Amino acid sequence: MNYQFSERMSTIRSSSIREILKITQNPEVISFAAGSPASESFPIQEFSELSKEIYEKNPVQALQYNVTEGYPPLLDKISKRLKEKFKVGNENDSTLVVSGGQQGIEFIAKVLCNEGDTIICENPTFVGGMNAFRSHGANLVGIEMDDEGIRVDNLEKAIKNNKNAKMIYLIPTFQNPTGKTMSLRRRKEVYELASKYNILILEDNPYGELRFNGEDIAPIKSMDTEGIVIYCGSFSKTLSAGMRLGFVNGPSKILQKIVLAKQVSDVHTNIYFQILTDKYLEKYNYDAHIEEIRNLYRRKSNLMIKTIEKNFDKRVQFTRPDGGLFLWCTMPDEIDINEFTKRALEKKVAFVPGHDFLPDYDEPCHCFRLNYSTPSDESIVNGIKIIAEVINEFLDK
Ligand SMILES: Cc1ncc(COP(=O)(O)O)c(C=O)c1O
Repeated sequence: MNYQFSERMSTIRSSSIREILKITQNPEVISFAAGSPASESFPIQEFSELSKEIYEKNPVQALQYNVTEGYPPLLDKISKRLKEKFKVGNENDSTLVVSGGQQGIEFIAKVLCNEGDTIICENPTFVGGMNAFRSHGANLVGIEMDDEGIRVDNLEKAIKNNKNAKMIYLIPTFQNPTGKTMSLRRRKEVYELASKYNILILEDNPYGELRFNGEDIAPIKSMDTEGIVIYCGSFSKTLSAGMRLGFVNGPSKILQKIVLAKQVSDVHTNIYFQILTDKYLEKYNYDAHIEEIRNLYRRKSNLMIKTIEKNFDKRVQFTRPDGGLFLWCTMPDEIDINEFTKRALEKKVAFVPGHDFLPDYDEPCHCFRLNYSTPSDESIVNGIKIIAEVINEFLDK
């Protein structure tokens, strides 16, 4: 059978991340490729006790259909936390629980994008975000970043040059893949530009709770007086990635459409995990739990950075994140990053080559992403030393 697939899927290529993750199933491979939280960060004991309580006290509720918007007590807690901690959400906004931040992004693309619309994003950016937009026929225009985040001069040019620019997709805090954080000044400039040109912003913030150095910076959504920012968050990196719990806050008119999209897609987010999370937030100290994760990632990122400083050739540049899960390395231009990745894999070390994160698949790239949340301390030291050897092989050629 010659299967005829839809055009909307034709622009999505399978990313090398998936292929690399298959290889990293081999326990001999040291992997810096994942985007996963540390397994020791999961509140296993607490979840185990709460699960027992749920099934003893009110099992039917956990097994029955529920409302699309989200389990009401949990929805209240999320809205309250967004408001109190991040100043996100006003009287014209509402919140929706979704099956992971990824689903939030996909629904936003679904309800707002038409074929041929342009989405402007950071270059590089999160593959899942780009693929959500690509799957709804949108074109991506990537804008480079400097140390303060997306460059506003080029952002303005891109808005002017793309009459059908619909939205700016941004990960301002501990960006995936670069680990960069947009300055407050830049956030304000970006908001003003979006307001001037009447264009929406999607602020994707799954890592915002994971700051381990410096002071929190207000989300762009906290500046939104005009209803032009939609905000996506997630429990994936603070409680559990596998339970698939995220949330969207944004203008109620947009959220109403997303509720319809969710009814079409999966009716509601897994109710058992919503109840579990609600009970966890009620009974345990979520902030103290997050503080432990921050301490863990501070230690791991410091170890990785120190080992890089000691072992990598000085021609290799790298970012120093203040939070999140990743850092981003830039090799000298002459290095073929795919060959480099292959050679490291032969030596049983995995990471993600930069190409996967580019809005334009064919643009040259000499970068790679390293994750420090999942490998053990020993693997961080040994793996970075092996990458350093491969760097030397390539630079000495
Ligand atoms: C930038 C970014 N946004 C969204 C997500 C989606 O997270 P989830 O669907 O697990 O909430 C991820 C996951 O890695 C991410 O890196």
